[in-house]
Amino acid sequence: MGDTTGKVIQCKAAVAWEAKKPLSIEDIEVAPPKENEIRVKIIATAICHTDAYTLDGLDPEGSFPCVLGHEGAGIVESVGPSVQGFQPGDHVIPLYIPQCGECKFCLSPKTNVCSKIRLTQGQGKMPDGTSRFTCKGQSLYHFMGCSTFSEYTVVADISLCKVDPTAAFDKICLLGCGVSTGFGAALNTANVDSGSTCAVFGLGAVGLAVIMGCKEAGAQRIIGVDINENKFELAKIFGCTEFVNPTKFEKPIQEVLIDLTDGGLDYTFECIGNVKTMRAALEACHKGWGVSVIIGVASAGQEISTRPFQLVTGRTWKGTAFGGWKSKDSVPRLVSKYLDKSLMLDEFVSYKLPFTSINEGFELLHSGKSIRTVLEY
Ligand code: APR
Ligand code: ZN
Ligand code: ZN
Repeated sequence: MGDTTGKVIQCKAAVAWEAKKPLSIEDIEVAPPKENEIRVKIIATAICHTDAYTLDGLDPEGSFPCVLGHEGAGIVESVGPSVQGFQPGDHVIPLYIPQCGECKFCLSPKTNVCSKIRLTQGQGKMPDGTSRFTCKGQSLYHFMGCSTFSEYTVVADISLCKVDPTAAFDKICLLGCGVSTGFGAALNTANVDSGSTCAVFGLGAVGLAVIMGCKEAGAQRIIGVDINENKFELAKIFGCTEFVNPTKFEKPIQEVLIDLTDGGLDYTFECIGNVKTMRAALEACHKGWGVSVIIGVASAGQEISTRPFQLVTGRTWKGTAFGGWKSKDSVPRLVSKYLDKSLMLDEFVSYKLPFTSINEGFELLHSGKSIRTVLEY
């Protein structure tokens, strides 16, 4: 450490030059961190659907060319002026939902959606409105305040947390998005109670993490719903007690679930991102108290619908971002929980690839063959 401080770093990054094109491994320049910014050497990163979705040109806020990636872990290389609480060598995880501790969202115990840098983050820029990345003389946009598909990245200090240095980067990188989101959806957003019945729609990384949360909360029955039966075996390891494949029934899946549970579920979770299954998940809830949580991200412009009667008769429709976790406070605790062996992470990793094989990782995600592919630099 030390010899690169204050200097521009040349390193490898996967650049998304334009939508619908494979990423291209390039040598890029990463400028030193400015006021309240930190430059991080990324050690491991994973591919999440939001990266793929943006690359497919489906995210209206996606800007090109950019450096994607938001599930990552690494080491602080250098800190900019005014940064407190971090020093070179710290092990860290970038946070796409920051925690400034000052905005009205941070001050409320009811939410985690810090708004401090929302505008510039959505524009793919650092909080001062500029970028730290250049490639071939061209400025590159940041992504979700993280841009972990680069060997070095720069993030706002409110978008980073320090974690236990004994934890393996290739596992804890998953806590940057999918796993934390699903786990928190069960424990924070739904607040599942012991003895309850739960149904989880979609058994990818998010759904498996929901199952882990439901199990921890003491749920009695956890029903996994997926059209791909290959997903059932792993879901069992996470705590799923029963499985339903909607394509095997004539009846709508909500009716199948209501029959299976004597009137409906206490909690349902939509981890697919499909507005039809969002409706089915709500309608599969028990009259009077059932709660349904939307976690999956639907395509731009999609709308959800149901009969108001469903809500009037006591079902609740909720949604969650990053599982409701106040990010800076919570992610280090989730890392500790992993080290204490009370949170599973290893089981989510289907493939490990060198960073330069990132396009193969995207193919594995699209084909449904992987829960998560972890890339190492
Ligand atoms: N009914 C039931 N299951 C379905 C259906 C359907 N109509 N359509 C897809 N699935 C299943 C898939 O077979 C897959 O197992 O949903 C699962 C989704 O898992 P992944 O694609 O691995 O997604 P994951 O990473 O878990 O994320 C889920 O959350 O973060 C968001 O954008 C992300 O919307 C996505 C969702
Ligand atoms: Zn805030
Ligand atoms: Zn994600």
